[in-house]
Amino acid sequence: MRSVHILLVFTEFLAISLLSVALLLSKDAYPSGYGDEPGSCVGSGDTIASPLRREVYEHDDGEIFDITHRFTPHTPVGDSTEGIGRFLKLSMSMKNGSDYNLSEMKIIVHAGTHVDAPGHMYDNYFDAGYDVDTLDLRVLNGPALLVDVPRDKNITAEVMESLNIPRGVKRVLFRTLNTDRRLMYKKEFDSSYVGFMKDGAQWLVDNTDIKLVGIDYLSVAAHDDVITSHLVFLESREIILVEGLKLDNVRPGIYTVHCLPLRLVGAEGSPIRCILTK
Ligand SMILES: *[C@@H]1O[C@H](CO)[C@@H](O)[C@H](O)[C@H]1NC(C)=O
Ligand SMILES: *[C@@H]1O[C@H](CO)[C@@H](O)[C@H](O)[C@H]1NC(C)=O
Ligand SMILES: *[C@@H]1O[C@H](CO)[C@@H](O)[C@H](O)[C@H]1NC(C)=O
Repeated sequence: MRSVHILLVFTEFLAISLLSVALLLSKDAYPSGYGDEPGSCVGSGDTIASPLRREVYEHDDGEIFDITHRFTPHTPVGDSTEGIGRFLKLSMSMKNGSDYNLSEMKIIVHAGTHVDAPGHMYDNYFDAGYDVDTLDLRVLNGPALLVDVPRDKNITAEVMESLNIPRGVKRVLFRTLNTDRRLMYKKEFDSSYVGFMKDGAQWLVDNTDIKLVGIDYLSVAAHDDVITSHLVFLESREIILVEGLKLDNVRPGIYTVHCLPLRLVGAEGSPIRCILTK
């Protein structure tokens, strides 16, 4: 019964999607500006233009920077040399005579660009239900500072102090040597990444108002302090950790960040889509 219901919902979704495409094609249905960008229209005849894949979207009021990494089989994940591998499976296929394509996804929730919930490192928080569905969207969305971290050290208390991040700043994205080394583009997990040492995490907790900590590799915590730094950040359940961000091609400065995790009840992590607007 359940799968029948899902199928019905899916079919309905398909019908709505087809209707939208039909509306897009009838030119007068939308004011100009819709569907008039290259790649966004459905091609005529048999050829369909390849879709655009973008990092930056320009619009009248500014720019949108996509700071999320794409998921591919080579997306890195902790301790794997091969990346996440094949994570999509086409369980129904038009090439095989189905009425539609339907994919299933199986993925480690801490792969690629993702968020950690308090239950990731505290078993009692996990049991109490502090999953990704409980993360505060007001922390995950709002003004954010993108800063460059000195490239020759992990993020220690000394480094944190040197960044001079003013009180009142709630969201900071830390760009490090990880971006220069393009570590997120390599399928092999690399434990020499830069992250917070325990004293750096403690300094942040004690001396700043930061509640959203973003970083450009799979863990905010340096490998040598991987557990202890996480424990310092997650203890209060007020700080949200966003990891594996794509921070190349964005300049340091102040933006508005928008990060939305999936509502995975019971999960201590989730893939997350993050963008910056300016
Ligand atoms: C998926 O659907 C498209 C049409 O939307 C079809 O052209 C394609 O062959 C299908 N892919 C597979 C693997 O069945
Ligand atoms: C189509 O079905 C065959 C036989 O079940 C299977 O081997 C093949 O992988 C399927 N192809 C797709 C694209 O799902
Ligand atoms: C950061 O720490 C890791 C071990 O956790 C180490 O391999 C790496 O060399 C350090 N990076 C820098 C820039 O000091």
